[in-house]
Amino acid sequence: MAALPEERFPSRGGRTGHAYLHDRAFLDRPLTMRGVTEADLPELVRVDREAFPEEPYPYFVLRQLYDVHGDRLLVLDDGEQLHGYVLFPTTSDGYECWIMSLGVTRDQRGRGLGRRLMLEVLRRLRTEGVREVRLTVEPTNAAAIMLYRSIGFSSEEGARRDYFGPGEDRLVMTLSL
Ligand SMILES: CC(C)(COP(=O)(O)OP(=O)(O)OC[C@H]1O[C@@H](n2cnc3c(N)ncnc32)[C@H](O)[C@@H]1OP(=O)(O)O)[C@@H](O)C(=O)NCCC(=O)NCCS
Repeated sequence: MAALPEERFPSRGGRTGHAYLHDRAFLDRPLTMRGVTEADLPELVRVDREAFPEEPYPYFVLRQLYDVHGDRLLVLDDGEQLHGYVLFPTTSDGYECWIMSLGVTRDQRGRGLGRRLMLEVLRRLRTEGVREVRLTVEPTNAAAIMLYRSIGFSSEEGARRDYFGPGEDRLVMTLSL
């Protein structure tokens, strides 16, 4: 697998809450955005369960997504733990990318990390000549929809009823690159 360049930036500087007040090491630890490795799998599973508590990927699915699309997975790492990830496989003709998953741990939300992951994905896709990015999102997931809209995604296709099975409607969002 090709090595992915890393990006470093400060982690959350002001996590509030009594339990964390003395955790200076945590507060000061910078986050790195980097490609995933096999050793990350347990952490990746943990982050995914935290981001999607109702419908996490089973371990074996994430394992195989890593096996097939490991070069399309970016993680946020503070040196000890992961705090987010994005999975962005591309169709075999190279035309279209699907953002299959984007998640940031609760303690790190609202700090621009989801946006950074997405912007880095879009930067890489433009370099590769990918023409279109697609994703699905729960119609009630306001935070994610706001994020995607703010970086240019539109939802002209609207909500697809039962997209992920009975009762699992999804909004399809697209972005032309
Ligand atoms: C969606 C998610 C990835 C956003 O990550 P994040 O790091 O918290 O987002 P950012 O701090 O980068 O925010 C980017 C934009 O998202 C929107 N946003 C983020 N949190 C929001 C909230 N609580 N309410 C409304 N809009 C919100 C805003 O437009 C924000 O831009 P702004 O800061 O300029 O206002 C994160 O909330 C998450 O992991 N949620 C659970 C998993 C999930 O739903 N993933 C998406 C599945 S499609």
